[in-house]
Order: sequence, then structure tokens, then C-alpha cells
Amino acid sequence: MNIVILAAGRGKRMHSNLPKVLHPLGGRPLLRHVIETARLLNPDRLIVVYGHGGAQVRSAITDQDICWVEQAEQLGTGHALAQTLPYLSPASTTLVLYGDVPLIAENTLRRLLHAAADGMAVLTVNLDNPQGYGRMVRDPRGGICSIVEEKDASPEQRQISEINTGVMVLPTARLAGWLSSLENKNAQAEYYLTDVVQKAVAESVQVSSAQPEAKWEVSGVNDKLQLAELERTLQSNTAHGLMLAGVTLADPTRIDIRGCLSHGKDVSIDIGCIFEGNVELGDGVMIGPYCVLKNVKVEAGARIAAYSHLEGAQVGASAIVGPYARLRPGARLGAETHVGNFVEVKNAVLGAYSKANHLAYIGDAEIGERVNVGAGVITCNYDGANKWKTCIEDDVFVGSDAQLVAPVRIAKGATIGAGTTVTKDVPGGSLVVSRAKQTVVLDWQRPKKN
Ligand code: UD1
Ligand code: CA
Repeated sequence: MNIVILAAGRGKRMHSNLPKVLHPLGGRPLLRHVIETARLLNPDRLIVVYGHGGAQVRSAITDQDICWVEQAEQLGTGHALAQTLPYLSPASTTLVLYGDVPLIAENTLRRLLHAAADGMAVLTVNLDNPQGYGRMVRDPRGGICSIVEEKDASPEQRQISEINTGVMVLPTARLAGWLSSLENKNAQAEYYLTDVVQKAVAESVQVSSAQPEAKWEVSGVNDKLQLAELERTLQSNTAHGLMLAGVTLADPTRIDIRGCLSHGKDVSIDIGCIFEGNVELGDGVMIGPYCVLKNVKVEAGARIAAYSHLEGAQVGASAIVGPYARLRPGARLGAETHVGNFVEVKNAVLGAYSKANHLAYIGDAEIGERVNVGAGVITCNYDGANKWKTCIEDDVFVGSDAQLVAPVRIAKGATIGAGTTVTKDVPGGSLVVSRAKQTVVLDWQRPKKN
């Protein structure tokens, strides 16, 4: 099978510099959704017709096996398909998809392909408000005669509620003849792909139809309103899938998944969370409200509390993160670690049972097991030019408000007194304090206001 995705249109109504098919839905370009669905059908050739913003589209979609065909001028859907003729494998059928109809389902396409077995088939749907679409004109016995565009339709034809979704399966061997004889004598002066239906009928090629399981499958994106509506549809589908697979969602209308969320058993997710890229949640993981997780792996039993932001991080089993924690790329927390409010961790390992519970910055560090990082501790990893590493071995206690000026190593079991500025390596088992001695003036009188 050949699959052709038409994606040359400008998308004027998006009012955007970004080509329409690159606008994200569920975090991925519209065109990406169509390509992924097309791949499920194992096509011999996967062709994308591009035009507006061609360079941008091609640099965003870099799949090696896609055959890109440029349609320099957008003269209509028939003209668009005609550009692909030299690249189609003539022995197999051709499925036409639209780059701006992202949620078309594999099953629907399989049924359409089945319906086209004896000729060609059009995916149609009945709409309460068919305005703007091409109408399916049928003879009294129900056979398809033609598709007439709204702008060319008579008042009676405009009453027809069955519309052309644009998705079709065509006999490739006949396409060259049909497409080369298309004319543009119509209201839009375009070469309509839909006119091939009459040609098929004239040549006694069977024209069948199939319908999608759900109407949203064939919804196109022409403006930001439709984009937002389809986003809700996609999110609601994803949320339903998660719940049926056992995930507890506090509210399925208040979760956004912009990528792939995989999960174990008994995972629960509170409201307002956003998941981006690849996120893995182990058994029993609990995600509190309003968390953002991007490319994160959370192991079994860990809890991410409210308002935490995690990116490129790993959280060990039964760890507790947040509320208000920030894990940046390269943060790796061991089992049963605690990272509390206003703690930022970047490119750092925190060994099992270690804790940094309040207001700390841990950057470019390697921290062992059972280490206590006090409130306000900062790894001074940056000297203005380069980044340096802080190593803290097992069982170290770092008192509150200490600054650890990297590169520095604190050996096993050492204790750093509160307020200490550590600039040299600390031997194991020692106590280090750098702090001005406390002076006491008894019966001190504060100055009085004049
Ligand atoms: C088309 C159909 C109409 C159908 C509707 C469904 C025709 C003549 N009409 O109308 O029957 O009800 O889709 O949404 O086919 N494109 C190109 N090159 C072009 C023109 C379009 O690549 O020269 C692409 C667009 O990027 C888009 C798709 O084809 O992905 C459909 O184009 P659009 O202009 O939206 O089609 P409609 O006029 O709405
Ligand atoms: Ca048009």
C-alpha cells in the first residue's frame, strides 16, 4: 500500500508562522500523529506532500523513510495527489490521509481499506452541521455518484448530511488517468481530488464508503479553537485509557499527557499534573496536585508531593519529593531519600536514605547514603567559568547554611557545623566548623530613636 499524507496547505486561519501541521497536539506535531498511525498499517511507501513552510516541516520530521514531495503551489487536493504519481508503487492501492486530521484511528483505516477491496472507498460521516464539507451525492439506490463541494453545491445538495472526510482509498493503477484529466472549473478554481469519484463511476469502478467509529477521528484542525477541542479529546481518551488500566485519577479532566506515560499498579495522580516526554511511574507511586514531570522515572512507592517540577530525573523506591521541589536533568535520588521544599537538585546523585529537606541547592554532586543535608546548604559548583563537583561520602552530616565550595570532598562520617564554608577536603570522622566565635555583651542597651 501507498500512503499519501496531504500537508501542503498553509493553515491561514491558525494566524501563525508555524506551519499548521507542526502545531502540537498532546505535545507532538499534528503531522507526527498521522505518520504514527500510517506506520501501524505498514505501508510500502509513505509519502508526505508538503508546501508551505517546507523547510520547517522537514527539519521537524526527520524520519528517514518518508518520501517528501513538494507541491510548490497549492492548486487543490487533486493537484496535490498528482505530484506524488511518480513515487507511487502502481501495483498497490493508495490511501490518502490529511496532515491536519490527527486522530484518525488505525481500525477505521483498516475498515476503509477492506471496503475498497473491489475498487475505491471514501471515509464518510453524517454530521448535524455539515457546513463547509464536501457532500456525498448518492443515487436512489444508495450508490455513490459524486462528491460536491459546499461552494459548488445546489441548495438541495447542501441538505445532505453525509460528508466526505477526505480520507480515501484509491486504485493506484487508474490514478494517473483520473488525475491528469481533472479540471479546475469550479467555485474555487482548484483541482479537486473529490472529482475522481465521478470518473470511477463512469469507468464502473465500485465506489464504497466506510464510517469512523467516533466522529472526532475525522475532525480537522483549521484554527486554534479546533486545535484546543481536539487536544481535550485526545487528553480525555488518554485519561480514560489510564483509568481502565488501573490508574487512579482524581479528575480525568484535569490531567495533561504530552508524550507517553507508563505505569505500574496502584498509581494515583492528583489534579492539574502535566506529563511530558517519557514518564515511568512504578507500582504505588503517588503524584500530588500540580506537578510537572518530564522524562522522569519514579520507582515503586515513591511520592511526589504538590507543586514539584521534575525533568530528566530518577526517583528511587519509596522516596519522598516535595512539596515544591525541583529536580533538574541528571538528578538521581536513591531509595527512601527525601527532597523537600525549595530544594533544587541538578546533575547530582543522592544515595539511599539521604535527606535534603529544606531550601538547598545540590548541583554537580555525588552524595552517599544516610547523608543529612541541612536547611540552606549550597554546593558552590560554579566559579564563574567552570562547574566543579562536590563529593559527600556516606553518613556525613552537613549542618544548616553550609557552603560547600567545589571541587571538594567530605569523607565518610564527617560533620560540618552549621554556617561553615567548606573550601578544603574534609577528613572522614572529623568535625569542621568555620564560624566567627560568638561574643556576648551583657546588659546591652539598644540605641534610642531621636
Ligand atoms: C476537502 C475536500 C472536502 C472534504 C474536506 C474534509 C476536496 C476538493 N475537498 O476540502 O470534500 O469535505 O476536505 O476536510 O478535496 N492540501 C494540499 N494541497 C492543496 C490543497 C490542500 O496539500 O493544494 C491539503 C491540506 O493541507 C489539507 C488537505 O489537503 O491537509 C485538505 O485541504 P483543505 O483545503 O482543508 O480541503 P477542503 O477545501 O476543506
Ligand atoms: Ca480548500
